[in-house]
Amino acid sequence: MRALSGRLGARAPTPRLLLLLQCLLATARPSSADDSAPDSPFTSPPVREEMLEKYSNFSLQSHNISLTEHSRMPVEKNITLERPSNVKLTCQFTTSGDLNAVNVTWKKDDELLENNYLVNATGSTLYTQYRFTIINSKQMGSYSCFFQEEKEQKGTFNFKVPELHGKNKPLISYVGDSTVLTCKCQNCVPLNWTWYRSNGSLQVPVGVQMNKYVINDTYANETKLKIKQLLEEDGGSYWCRALFQLGESEGHIELVVLSYVPLKPFFAIVAEVVLLVAIILLCEKYTQKNKKHSDEGREFEQIEQLKSDDSNGIENNVPRLRKNESTGQ
Ligand SMILES: *[C@@H]1O[C@H](CO)[C@@H](O)[C@H](O)[C@H]1NC(C)=O
Ligand SMILES: *[C@@H]1O[C@H](CO)[C@@H](O)[C@H](O)[C@H]1NC(C)=O
Ligand SMILES: *[C@@H]1O[C@H](CO)[C@@H](O)[C@H](O)[C@H]1NC(C)=O
Ligand SMILES: *[C@@H]1O[C@H](CO)[C@@H](O)[C@H](O)[C@H]1NC(C)=O
Ligand SMILES: *[C@@H]1O[C@H](CO)[C@@H](O)[C@H](O)[C@H]1NC(C)=O
Ligand SMILES: *[C@@H]1O[C@H](CO)[C@@H](O)[C@H](O)[C@H]1NC(C)=O
Ligand SMILES: *[C@@H]1O[C@H](CO)[C@@H](O)[C@H](O)[C@H]1NC(C)=O
Ligand SMILES: *[C@@H]1O[C@H](CO)[C@@H](O)[C@H](O)[C@H]1NC(C)=O
Ligand SMILES: *[C@@H]1O[C@H](CO)[C@@H](O)[C@H](O)[C@H]1NC(C)=O
Repeated sequence: MRALSGRLGARAPTPRLLLLLQCLLATARPSSADDSAPDSPFTSPPVREEMLEKYSNFSLQSHNISLTEHSRMPVEKNITLERPSNVKLTCQFTTSGDLNAVNVTWKKDDELLENNYLVNATGSTLYTQYRFTIINSKQMGSYSCFFQEEKEQKGTFNFKVPELHGKNKPLISYVGDSTVLTCKCQNCVPLNWTWYRSNGSLQVPVGVQMNKYVINDTYANETKLKIKQLLEEDGGSYWCRALFQLGESEGHIELVVLSYVPLKPFFAIVAEVVLLVAIILLCEKYTQKNKKHSDEGREFEQIEQLKSDDSNGIENNVPRLRKNESTGQ
């Protein structure tokens, strides 16, 4: 590669061509892993101290992983990050073997990181520390430390933007109603929220200019999409997308819009029951009224009877008492 760049230098390409070539070479680099010449113009790392100073007001993220020679599984740590930060990653490896024989390397995804990490040893523990600044989405991903003894031990730090929480279960609504789809993330402040919906196999932005949709972004950590006057064709997949300084994240919600048609038999039964109950109540009221009428009539009769009983003397005392009882009710 050095020979190649030398030849190019001799030809003095225009800066734009050089840039293009740099791009091509940069993308081709992972395949030429054997080429790790530290003085190659294309692999020289950015001057770290300078970067750290320039971004000194970014927050510092410190994370560590502990490994031993007996670790069975690679150790993994997920780190959520949404804005540029200074990062300090430390791996420690404890072994009973010779620390000087242990080979320490770092990789970003599958790419070997150059020698800009520190290694030191204390007792039977080897420390390695990698410091850098994450300023763009390309720097997100996995950073791994490797300790190579007889068996290789690996620790991985996964940098991700915050995850969004949509809904796992489909949301069910009815034609003519309105519904609200909500997306949120924990302790996050996205730059931007956007809603998409499916149209066939395509993802199309939700047309907020139409009166049908209302988006509520009152809180930075959540977005709500209100869909009014639902139609059956409003059903389908919806996505919310949050834009962060270091990338974007997506949440998914499935909306099912049911028409009232399958509910008709149910409503017919409900109506029937209501009607029956009404009829029964009416009947009861009517018969009660009639009973009252007849009671009044009977009372009148009884009074008449009492009058005549009085003239009949003591013999009729018992039936009179019974009659009084019945009228007292
Ligand atoms: C860091 O400093 C720059 C200007 O030097 C400023 O724009 C930025 O907001 C600062 N960031 C923080 C997190 O304070
Ligand atoms: C490693 O990180 C944990 C918390 O994540 C902390 O409690 C621990 O002290 C750290 N260990 C070292 C050696 O820095
Ligand atoms: C890290 O995230 C991945 C995928 O999101 C998950 O499978 C894994 O269990 C997580 N690991 C830890 C330690 O949380
Ligand atoms: C350490 O690893 C590198 C790359 O994997 C290899 O070239 C080198 O020979 C190793 N050194 C030792 C001492 O094992
Ligand atoms: C080695 O590095 C670790 C982690 O950075 C640090 O805590 C420790 O003090 C260092 N030890 C020496 C002897 O420099
Ligand atoms: C979102 O932010 C609001 C107000 O800042 C807070 O009350 C709420 O708990 C947050 N929700 C989540 C999921 O972080
Ligand atoms: C927010 O999203 C809109 C698209 O919905 C886009 O045009 C705009 O540039 C975004 N704002 C920022 C700060 O990225
Ligand atoms: C879906 O796509 C078709 C054709 O591509 C278009 O006519 C229709 O308006 C789109 N619907 C929505 C809701 O975007
Ligand atoms: C937006 O949502 C918040 C709660 O998330 C609510 O208090 C507010 O009234 C809503 N605004 C509109 C215009 O619907």
